Formats: sequence, structure tokens, C-alpha cells
Amino acid sequence: MKKAVYPGSFDPMTFGHLDVIRRASSMFDELTVAVLNNTAKSPLFSVDERVKILAEATKDLANVKIDSFSGLLVDYCRERDIHIIIRGLRAITDFEYELQTAQTNRKLSDDDVDTIFLTTSLAYSYLSSSAVKQIATFGGDISQFVPDFEIPLIVEKYSKN
Ligand code: PNS
Repeated sequence: MKKAVYPGSFDPMTFGHLDVIRRASSMFDELTVAVLNNTAKSPLFSVDERVKILAEATKDLANVKIDSFSGLLVDYCRERDIHIIIRGLRAITDFEYELQTAQTNRKLSDDDVDTIFLTTSLAYSYLSSSAVKQIATFGGDISQFVPDFEIPLIVEKYSKN
């Protein structure tokens, strides 16, 4: 079975993430979307909330599983017999960090885990979770960037602050 993992913060999930998920899911028998449980950051959504949002958004994709992880991604891969990491590349600015991380993961896994990059569709090449958060902070329209069901969940977070 061809398996891959698409790791990330997904805080919040955007159409850019969904674009990568859809395209990667058609290339593998099983795609696990893994939300990083990063205790160092103070996220907008809890890990559980992000897992639920991703599950709702991908419910029509039968071979996509949603999970969370903490610690090293290569350990997560090793435990699940996953040898491919998927990452989206939006622009050249993403490249340096992604190249370094991919090479580190390959080294850490003794050449057992490779990274495959999908170039984000042009329609979403400018889009980032940070931009969505910034627009939402100021009450801007985020309907072009995230699915309809996610909008009130994001708006609610900012109405509490
Ligand atoms: O959506 P993001 O924040 O760009 O995702 C980054 C992520 C989760 C892929 C990356 O931070 C990660 O894999 N973190 C886990 C720790 C790890 O394994 N780091 C790689 C060695 S540098």
C-alpha cells in the first residue's frame, strides 16, 4: 500500500491546504494529514479543533485520514511505516526552509523518509494561515480563503478576544 503523510500546523486550514490534500490523495492509497501538536506555539485552534475541521473538510475523500502528532515527524513515520512526506511549495520563499527540513528528515531517518513537494495551485500561491488570521483579526472577509463551515469558527475565536 502506497502511504504518505501531509504534516502541518493547519491553524487555520485554508483552501491552499485542501488543494494539496486533494491532489496528494489521488497519488497515494492512503494519505494521513497530521496536525502538529506544538506546545511552544499559542494556536488559534486547539489540536482537537483542527483535527475536526480537517475531518469535516475531507469527509468526501475516502483514503484521507486525519491524525495529530508531537515530537519528530520521522518518528511518527517510522511507527506507521510511512516513507513519504508531502509538503506544498507556494513560492521560492518557501523553498529554503522546506529544502533544509526535507534534508534533515532524510538524514534523521537514515534515508528512509523522502519528501515530495507539490507546487500549490496558482490560485492559492499567495495564501497563508497567517494572512487569514490577520484578515480575521480586523474583521475582513475570509470567504475566499477557507470553506464556509470554517468561517464562523474562526470569527468566533476573534470575537472572544
Ligand atoms: O504548517 P507548518 O507549520 O509549516 O508545518 C511544519 C511541520 C509541522 C511540518 C514541521 O514543523 C514539523 O514536522 N515539526 C515536527 C518536528 C520535526 O520533525 N521537525 C523536523 C526536523 S527539523
